[in-house]
Amino acid sequence: MSSFGAAPAPILTESELKLLQALIYQECGMHFDERRTHFLQDRLLRRLRESRSDSFYAYYRLLISPEGKEELSRLLENLTVNETSFFRHKAQLDLFQRSVLEDLFRQKSARREYSVRIWSAGCSTGQEPYTLAMMAADSLAYYYLRNPLPVDLPLPKPLVPPPWRVEILASDINYSVLRTGQEGTYSESQMATVDYSYRLRYFDKVGDRYAVKKALKELVHFDFHNLKTEYLPQRNDIIFCRNVMMYFDEAEQKRLVEKFYRCLNPHGHLFVGHAESLLGLTKKFQMQHKDSGTAYQRLEVRE
Ligand SMILES: C[S@@+](CC[C@H](N)C(=O)[O-])C[C@H]1O[C@@H](n2cnc3c(N)ncnc32)[C@H](O)[C@@H]1O
Repeated sequence: MSSFGAAPAPILTESELKLLQALIYQECGMHFDERRTHFLQDRLLRRLRESRSDSFYAYYRLLISPEGKEELSRLLENLTVNETSFFRHKAQLDLFQRSVLEDLFRQKSARREYSVRIWSAGCSTGQEPYTLAMMAADSLAYYYLRNPLPVDLPLPKPLVPPPWRVEILASDINYSVLRTGQEGTYSESQMATVDYSYRLRYFDKVGDRYAVKKALKELVHFDFHNLKTEYLPQRNDIIFCRNVMMYFDEAEQKRLVEKFYRCLNPHGHLFVGHAESLLGLTKKFQMQHKDSGTAYQRLEVRE
């Protein structure tokens, strides 16, 4: 009787690796240097087996074929790092809320412009955009505390009192994280960085999980956007793109920052991750730094 063990793993040749790396870079901007080649090989092998390809070259051929579109998205989903948390890097969020957002509400109100648009680009499972939504709603409530309306608002008071409109766009390249964000329920361990006051006001306890309340959910809109493409959401007052650019090489980072410049309204702000910086990538933004939080404001060049 013959015994059937697991089939030996196909060998990934140097030229196959180069082909696949170039394809991934072209599709989503992710760059895998020597430190991350092992991770890349592991994920490629997993997908090769799932798709029942005989060799890495055959898998590459599948990816570039019209029938391989779905497999390509699945591969990209397997390659993204989706680590995130609520209230990630608090010092930067304080700068966002106490300085950038407050100024924005004041300036917009003076111009009688009552809509604010914030984009969380590379939002993963939603903790970042929901954090921004909670902070924006609180900021607006605080703004009204100091600048009361001449008439009382109906009870229960809306999260975003008229005439204001707060829109938070949450985008990612990974459909699976977008679905999780859209669902908006989180485990106790995922809620570790959400304090009681936020839990009480913005979440319902459903079984052993926390569900984002409807009113907060309505401020956040999840959508697919690949940051590698040219057509990205325009007219944002603030863009958060944290812990995404670090997976791109310098050329791709420069292109992305240039696109963000165009996606921002005049004087708009860009927030990047704690370990990321715009230094050496552009001269079109002015750095603002306060209590260990950093933001970059769009500089306006005279035509
Ligand atoms: C490490 S998570 C960061 C999540 C969140 N911004 C934070 O800082 O907590 C990086 C996210 O960027 C997304 N991403 C990577 N490449 C992308 C691309 N080309 N377009 C859009 N999203 C991308 C990944 O799918 C992943 O969810």
